[in-house]
Amino acid sequence: MSSAERAATLLTQLEPEDFRVLTAIELGMSSHRYVPVEEIERISGLNPRELEYRIRRLNNMELIYGRQQPYVGYILNYAGYDALALNALVKADILEALGKPLGVGKESDVYEALTSNGERVAVKFHRLGRVSFRDTRRKRGYVGGRRHISWLYESRLAAEREFEALGIVYEAGVSVPKPIHRNRHVVVMGYIEGFPLVDVVSLDDPEGLLDDILRNIKLTLSAGIIHNDLSEFNIVVKPDGEVLIIDWPQYVTMDHPNAELLIRRDVENVLKYFRRKWRVYRDLDETLKWLLS
Ligand SMILES: Nc1ncnc2c1ncn2[C@@H]1O[C@H](COP(=O)(O)OP(=O)(O)OP(=O)(O)O)[C@@H](O)[C@H]1O
Ligand SMILES: [Mg+2]
Repeated sequence: MSSAERAATLLTQLEPEDFRVLTAIELGMSSHRYVPVEEIERISGLNPRELEYRIRRLNNMELIYGRQQPYVGYILNYAGYDALALNALVKADILEALGKPLGVGKESDVYEALTSNGERVAVKFHRLGRVSFRDTRRKRGYVGGRRHISWLYESRLAAEREFEALGIVYEAGVSVPKPIHRNRHVVVMGYIEGFPLVDVVSLDDPEGLLDDILRNIKLTLSAGIIHNDLSEFNIVVKPDGEVLIIDWPQYVTMDHPNAELLIRRDVENVLKYFRRKWRVYRDLDETLKWLLS
């Protein structure tokens, strides 16, 4: 079972005191690599006996992880962070139930879910620095000088950025999942019935589909946004042939110093894919000129 599924299953068993401890550890993680028990006690306001009981419980549920040396301290596991986000989304009357996985990527897990009014949505859990704590630190280095909280901080930041980008381009009329809500590292958005372009095996009108994609890129650029990871993996095609562009956390704005280069790379990825797979030929420079006109 994945951490999100585990968190969703445990949600009904968790009591207010459990959430107080999880929240205290989350807060403590902004200034400690492992949050000392005394600090958890101070923030949660629970008495030592109660706290000991809660910590043991949460540890058994594998929502937190502890170490004994050089002092006794705890951190959240991904499932613990997932539980905090899911609980907030349920409390806010956004989510009702988590469904089946829609896609498990390198840097996220996406699930189907139901809202409290029965709407089907997609829930994306951002997971940065998933490898291991040691690997994360080695590969990613410092984030704002606060390396010890990097996975928590980076995952939340990715969700914030994705939600922000979705909001801007959705308003601008770009075909993207509708942004619904964000909490911590989790983005709730409209559910798309369809397949990533990379998995599509037959197309009635590849020329027309490419035109649709380019029109959406043009709208995105007009809104001042560059997707910055555009490819056949992040374009979804619905059964009716409509295209949607997904996966926005790495977006940059048009005032980025390398804007031109990044736009070129996005467009080149798409044109190359259409040339190779569907024998649709478009000139890169001509296309770029039209996109920026
Ligand atoms: N709104 C949505 N509705 C339905 N399915 C979705 C939605 N968003 C994402 N998915 C599914 O989840 C997969 C991964 O989503 P996304 O590309 O946003 O995450 P990712 O972190 O980039 O994954 P990867 O690391 O593999 O690129 C998509 O390929 C798609 O199958
Ligand atoms: Mg992707």
